[in-house]
Amino acid sequence: MTDQYSVLGEAPKKDDLKKLSKSDAHLTISNLSAGYGKMEILHDFDLFVSKAQSLCLIGPNGAGKSTILHSIYGFTNIFSGKIEIDGKEITNLTPAEKLKTVGIAYILQDNSVFPDMTVEENLLMGGYIKDKTEESYQEAEKILEKYERLRNRRNQPAKVLSGGERRLLEISRALVMKPSILLIDEPSIGLEPKYIDMVFEILGDLQNNEKKTIILVEQNAKKGLQFADIGYVLVSGETAIAGKGDDLLNNSDVGRLFLGG
Ligand SMILES: Nc1ncnc2c1ncn2[C@@H]1O[C@H](COP(=O)(O)OP(=O)(O)O)[C@@H](O)[C@H]1O
Ligand SMILES: [Mg+2]
Repeated sequence: MTDQYSVLGEAPKKDDLKKLSKSDAHLTISNLSAGYGKMEILHDFDLFVSKAQSLCLIGPNGAGKSTILHSIYGFTNIFSGKIEIDGKEITNLTPAEKLKTVGIAYILQDNSVFPDMTVEENLLMGGYIKDKTEESYQEAEKILEKYERLRNRRNQPAKVLSGGERRLLEISRALVMKPSILLIDEPSIGLEPKYIDMVFEILGDLQNNEKKTIILVEQNAKKGLQFADIGYVLVSGETAIAGKGDDLLNNSDVGRLFLGG
């Protein structure tokens, strides 16, 4: 498998990656080696992303894209390296601490709404970890005000939602905690094209208007790179190519291998 990717040439250096994040990086990963049990999946991995920037991870199945999100959130074994937010080390915090104290939210890859709970109850679940439930109610109310699709069904069980509306609910539920960083694994998976566009519009709004930092994994490389400011192509636990999303869309290696062109 590695042979067909050797055409990609030299891997980007740490300084190249730094330059892609426009100012002081909000989230920084340095020299991270991490995996599951004793198995190392990510090797000496670096990542830099600024506040209100979006970064998309693409690459073949099994390359370690989800493992990067898992590592940021605290689901992997970290053998060495460092993860920082605004210069403060968070490498070994638990997922609960990441969500509650440093504002990292992780949106799961699969359907994770509770079908028999109402839309509103699902939203409130997003705040379960908060001490102040009053604040969760306020945030949920703000979200319902903003998204008519959810508001109209707030008292109905979530199972009546369309695929796109469910994805919106999953994203919204994470927002109840007012995170500054959203980790999203395959937001477009299993959605009809019209809903894929809707999901990317919502993410664009969160980035541009609410200044969220977004790190996403996307199987649909074209959509992901069109959306994101920065793209990393991950191969076997390492970044093989990195660039601005637009530049990667026009990169012939990326096109041939991931965009079907
Ligand atoms: N929970 C886990 N336990 C053990 N190995 C895992 C686990 N999750 C993923 N892996 C392995 O880690 C490697 C990278 O997987 P993953 O990060 O899911 O890849 P991608 O998201 O790029 O498809 C794969 O070899 C996969 O089998
Ligand atoms: Mg994955």
